Amino acid sequence: MRIRLPSSFLWGAALSSYQCEGENSNSDWYAWEKEKNLQQSGRACDHYRLFDRDFKEARNLNLNSLRFSIEWARVNPSPGVFSDSELEHYRLVVDALLKRGLHPLITLHHFTNPLWFNQTQGWLNPKNIDYFLAYLKKIVDLFRGKIDLWVVFNEPLVYIYNSFIRGIWPPGEKSFKSAKKALDNIIIAYLLGYQEIKKANKKDFINSQVSFSKHVRIFSGCPDFNLFLNSLSAFCRNQQFNFWLIDKLQKKKSLDFIALNYYCKEYVSFKGLLGTECKHKIHKERRNQLGWDIYPEGLFEVLLDLKRFELPIIITENGTAESEDNFYQEYLLKHLKSVGKAFLSGVDIKGYFWWSLLDNFEWEKGFKHRFGLLAVDFETMDRKVRPFAKVYAEICKSNEIEI
Ligand code: BGC
Repeated sequence: MRIRLPSSFLWGAALSSYQCEGENSNSDWYAWEKEKNLQQSGRACDHYRLFDRDFKEARNLNLNSLRFSIEWARVNPSPGVFSDSELEHYRLVVDALLKRGLHPLITLHHFTNPLWFNQTQGWLNPKNIDYFLAYLKKIVDLFRGKIDLWVVFNEPLVYIYNSFIRGIWPPGEKSFKSAKKALDNIIIAYLLGYQEIKKANKKDFINSQVSFSKHVRIFSGCPDFNLFLNSLSAFCRNQQFNFWLIDKLQKKKSLDFIALNYYCKEYVSFKGLLGTECKHKIHKERRNQLGWDIYPEGLFEVLLDLKRFELPIIITENGTAESEDNFYQEYLLKHLKSVGKAFLSGVDIKGYFWWSLLDNFEWEKGFKHRFGLLAVDFETMDRKVRPFAKVYAEICKSNEIEI
């Protein structure tokens, strides 16, 4: 059975500046790659130069929207200083999207900070919130009258976990106390940023919608001899990791839609109440190239769970990295089936963005894992449409999902 979506449905792809643009040398990540001897982002996909060509390809794939992020470190190279030429660059980016009929969804913070920001204690210092707000205001001002979809932070809990608990991302802390401090400051920055965007857009008679992207996983107890305790940990993770922040911001009336990033299922073993990720090989799900348990029905389950917030939902990321081409198509179709089923069950889904438009720099893992609708040759910077992207293009054109 096929279901038709509303004509306003956003069919898109997502990308982030640091992962695609290349040469973001003022960013904390640039220094981190060197310090930790990681594969370096270097030119990345050279998207900084090739953005218009990439948008043309996106349009050829019948997409009608694109999620991208602004690199804070570029536009704000030192405290209190904004670069006119970099602001002009992003003005051109947005104009190029609008010209091609791609509805822009802007992310303001996608895991990276200016190097100078981290050198003054970054998110650990409450005084630094003002720096973020100054940057936010600059961007809101730059795009007055043009942007109505905003994601202030991408996956704040993932950022905190990797940067302040696991210590695998800059600033490389491993402390619960620091994690709490940084998260508190990010939440304050979000709430103040939310108000700023709404205030400015009200003046321009734009009904802007503001949110943060939330990474949600299906947590399940590992079915070993300890299933009962494992399931208890999975339950706690679900409450704490998946819904807590959405709930908190909604109660503060500061969430206009849910921006959902969904990729996979995670099996949990009991280790304290919150448990730990279980790496056994006894699970039945297929694993992708990164070892993630692929569970498309989970997207349906999550969407139904989110219905209780009574907010519109945009799926701001869903995708995979595979070693075989046909797995991409299987992943896409099965996840879209979940979207269609949830839609039929009355979930207010406004859009779907594949992660990612381009193969790109996958943080500490480098360039090996490829998520792109467009395969990138990192030597020549040529782009090639993956076979499953053609299937996606047909779906976007028809605006119908097979369920
Ligand atoms: C992040 C992206 C990342 C992707 C795949 C998402 O959670 O927002 O930056 O590349 O996952 O790992």
